[in-house]
Amino acid sequence: MNDKKTIFSGIQPTGCITIGNYLGALKSWVQLQNDYNCIFSVVDLHSITVRQDPIALRKRCMDFLTQYLACGINGEDNLVYFQSHVPAHAELAWILNCFTYMGELGRMTQFKDKSAKHADNINAGLFTYPVLMAADILLYQTDLVPVGIDQKQHLELARDIAIRFNGVFGDVFKVPEGYIPKEAARIMSLQEPTSKMSKSDPNINGFVSILDDPDTIRRKFKRAVTDSDGEIAYREGKDGINNLLNIYSAVTGQSVEDSVNEFSGLGYGTFKERVAEAVVEELRPVQQRYADLAKNKDYINKIYTEGAKHAAYLASKTLRKVHRKLGYVDR
Ligand code: TRP
Repeated sequence: MNDKKTIFSGIQPTGCITIGNYLGALKSWVQLQNDYNCIFSVVDLHSITVRQDPIALRKRCMDFLTQYLACGINGEDNLVYFQSHVPAHAELAWILNCFTYMGELGRMTQFKDKSAKHADNINAGLFTYPVLMAADILLYQTDLVPVGIDQKQHLELARDIAIRFNGVFGDVFKVPEGYIPKEAARIMSLQEPTSKMSKSDPNINGFVSILDDPDTIRRKFKRAVTDSDGEIAYREGKDGINNLLNIYSAVTGQSVEDSVNEFSGLGYGTFKERVAEAVVEELRPVQQRYADLAKNKDYINKIYTEGAKHAAYLASKTLRKVHRKLGYVDR
């Protein structure tokens, strides 16, 4: 092992990877991967808190992992694997369940939102989801967890659980820090710019998948909801325009201020076309790599098999420590 710090992050294989995930997560993972030991998982155990169709899930898991690589994640220097391939995640989650309070989990806003949305299936997994996420992170003695702002509460809980466990048993877990990239300005829905762009939005015009073809991307931006005052400016109340400016700035890497200047005086139509073009160009190489990788099943297979193997080894070290502390007989 080297002395680099460890990063863990994951995306649930639900819906499809959007430019929100790309600009908010994957792009920053790619930037971080040289400076950290990175562990990027397709967190498939998490995804079944909502019913999934097995055939679609299997395909989506493969597609997500392939897209991680297509976005530029180097699967040879980092660990890229499916969460369900490393049983230690579920094992540690059980143990941490016994160190987490009902009250803490009941306060999680994502639980409250999801149980309102899926009132017919408020299963225990939905409730303990944040504990599994804590296990994901703590298993690898993670230093840094890049997440979107909506995961901040879950990350705080993971820290609290680690501190609590360490308080009883001594230093077992590294207490992780969150990393919320500032340029990961939340990318909002194109149709409802006051809510986050969701990868499972039933309205497909609300999001742009990173695999959408150029014409679909142009069409979705053309239909993006704006406002009626006709001014390209970044300010409160102009959610649609703010969102387009954020997307453009995240893609080009320039400040929002510069983007506002670049477009000042132009009409919304031209502005949307320019944003769409920037996104099309940004995604072109990603889509090309995706097409190449998708043909190379053996390579993908090797990445996730070796990724899981190495991850399982690292996880077993933490799990052994935990078992000893708890008083379990050595295996
Ligand atoms: N809960 C995260 C989300 O919905 C996904 C996730 C699961 C995750 N385990 C994780 C993110 C561990 C970071 C680290 O976005």
